[in-house]
Amino acid sequence: MPLIHFTDLTIRQLNQGEAIPYELLLLADPSRTLMDAYLKNSRVYIAELTDTIIAVYVLCPVNDDNSSIEIKNIAVGIPFQNRGLGKILLAHAAEKAKENGFKNIIIGTANSSIGQIYLYQQQGFEIVTIRKDFFSKNYAEPIYENGIPAKHMLILKKKL
Ligand code: ACO
Repeated sequence: MPLIHFTDLTIRQLNQGEAIPYELLLLADPSRTLMDAYLKNSRVYIAELTDTIIAVYVLCPVNDDNSSIEIKNIAVGIPFQNRGLGKILLAHAAEKAKENGFKNIIIGTANSSIGQIYLYQQQGFEIVTIRKDFFSKNYAEPIYENGIPAKHMLILKKKL
């Protein structure tokens, strides 16, 4: 798959009143309930290729830590995955976080999300903590990836 040319791509904050791209968000998080809870306090950024939304990420300040902001959701449309867009979005999110005065950006992913754990570390995030049983407790249906049950959330942090 060819890499996406950054020049063809627009990344911008979703305006109030614009439809939230739930189909994309659901690729990263199957819980619409949890999603609607964090969307209330978040900013949604979309990536458009000739006016079609092909990817999204969601930034939400961390409640008990004024210096950190969390990427709560990041998703690239299936036909556009593995072409470098995820890395572009992670860098964009870090830039936005820094612009807004945050010192750290964090991201959480399941113990079973091997590709994502690889990608985030490759992009400078370090594992700092584990939210034990986050997925087993908060998700009604069991989640399996790579033949592994998703139980815990690994939290990765990047200093800005
Ligand atoms: N399985 C295997 N490898 C993966 C995976 C995966 N699921 N995801 C990323 N990678 C690796 C690739 O091997 C590749 O490595 P390389 O650059 O060394 O070749 C690299 O990560 C891909 O980088 P990009 O092309 O920049 O990433 P992409 O555009 O595919 O975006 C993303 C990554 C956002 C994880 C995308 O695959 C996606 O939307 N997946 C489904 C939703 C999801 O899992 N989102 C993250 C959940 S965690 C959260 O939302 C906070």
